[in-house]
Amino acid sequence: LHIIHVTAEMAPIAKVGGLGDVVTGLARACLSRGHTVDIMLPFYECIQKEQISELTLITSYGSFHDGNWVPTNAYRGTVSGIPVIFIEPSNHFFKGQSVYGGSYDETEAYLFFSRACLEWMQVTLVQPDIIHVHEWQTGGLPLLYWDMYHNLSLKKPRITLTIHNMEHYGECRQEQLDKCGLDGSIYATEEKAVDDRTVGHNPERLSLLKGGIVYSNSILTVSPTYLKETLCSGWLASTLLRHRDKYVGILNGIDTDMWNPATDIFLPAKFNAKDLEGKKLCKYYVQKGLGLDLKGDSIIKGDNTIDASVKVPLVVCITRLVAQKGLHLITHAIKRVEELGGQMIVLGKAPDRRVESEFKYLADLHNQGPSVRILLIYSEELSHMLYAAADMVLVPSMYEPCGLAQMIGMRYGAVPIVRKTGGLADTVFDMDNQSNREMANGFVFEGIDEGSLNWALDRAFSYYRENPSVWAGTVRKVMEIDNSWNNTAGKYIDVYNSVRVR
Ligand code: ADP
Ligand code: GLC
Repeated sequence: LHIIHVTAEMAPIAKVGGLGDVVTGLARACLSRGHTVDIMLPFYECIQKEQISELTLITSYGSFHDGNWVPTNAYRGTVSGIPVIFIEPSNHFFKGQSVYGGSYDETEAYLFFSRACLEWMQVTLVQPDIIHVHEWQTGGLPLLYWDMYHNLSLKKPRITLTIHNMEHYGECRQEQLDKCGLDGSIYATEEKAVDDRTVGHNPERLSLLKGGIVYSNSILTVSPTYLKETLCSGWLASTLLRHRDKYVGILNGIDTDMWNPATDIFLPAKFNAKDLEGKKLCKYYVQKGLGLDLKGDSIIKGDNTIDASVKVPLVVCITRLVAQKGLHLITHAIKRVEELGGQMIVLGKAPDRRVESEFKYLADLHNQGPSVRILLIYSEELSHMLYAAADMVLVPSMYEPCGLAQMIGMRYGAVPIVRKTGGLADTVFDMDNQSNREMANGFVFEGIDEGSLNWALDRAFSYYRENPSVWAGTVRKVMEIDNSWNNTAGKYIDVYNSVRVR
């Protein structure tokens, strides 16, 4: 198969959250199974070119926007062993210091990008079997595809859409569709509100994600439980129900090359499930580096004894600081962990100013103290260090389509504490659930209130302190769980095969 991912994110060069991880991990897994895979990505100004090898200009062409042909360059390069085609328009799109939030209209920019990718395929006569689009940003591509390919005899590519997060539905105005060369009125008429060709009947409020759902050949979402949740609630539920026969839930994997405590270049000491000495050292380096209390337990390293706080449980929470992630529970955990005599580190970036200032306030309150650090930055290196140092990884999300943090945490020997929702419910099983002893690998709570979280945290702390041998066994067990793409990439290939043109 030849698969082209058209995406707004790719780890590590253009990653904001799990979308970037998934695109890279899935692409690598399909490549290693002998398929041909390319990733098409906007050439964001913020991408560090040193991270791309063999970067070469391959095509210069015009791509349509707002009545003009915008001179556009396509470059080919390799990132972490994966072939990438970078699309660089000569206008202001994708300029700025970060992947999102530049001073341009993102809806117009991603519609432009989607069209520019299809135009590149037409100019270069590239005919993949599958064009795999992700999220609202490239959800407009399927609309453009049927419009641009309708009178070509060769309609080889089939379109697969993965929905990573239904909340972001890509609100779009009819005139924005017009600007990218579509007749927006076709997708936005009152009479057609019940007809599936519409992508919303208010011309001011169309949805690119809905467009993707209606016009793709197959739709995926990132865990079986989230699939069920999306069919029961949310304004796209009825659309999804109508397209149920092409809608599949496949659990994400993690890229076990990128996330491997035995080889991770960001760690001061490596470790694996059979030898956890390195993990203790990672915890020590993090505690020392961030100035957390070292309470005088000790680690023996060679001839030296190092003071450390081996016996103090360290909880980490690495997340985008947005409502989805359970902000009130994260702030509550900070308080509760301190009360329980543990240590907690939050590594998070808040896209919203108000949330940022609330967490800044908490950081000022705690960051000089002995047991809490709140780091309001995005840092790939630090995230690796913290997963390695952590005894527990906290993911108290209100909803979570899949969630990678709990799986990455487990790979690094951090026992997960999660709220039972979406992919968290598919990957973490409670230690005290007597009917599922075999799968037990963490602590799960259901409510959205502080008391529910306390119940899980308190139990985790008592296992850690009172049952060290069970705890050590659990750490080994979570590290050995196979959450890699090996487990799930085959299911993606099955979906691709079920829609491809033979
Ligand atoms: P989402 O995609 O909703 O953000 P996931 O759990 O699927 O949630 O993926 C989050 C990814 O982003 C993980 O790889 C996590 O380690 C990473 N991440 C989140 N916040 C930060 C941060 N501040 N610094 C570094 N990595 C982060
Ligand atoms: C989204 C979801 C997250 C998922 C990720 C990758 O950002 O919020 O749950 O793991 O995409 O699919």
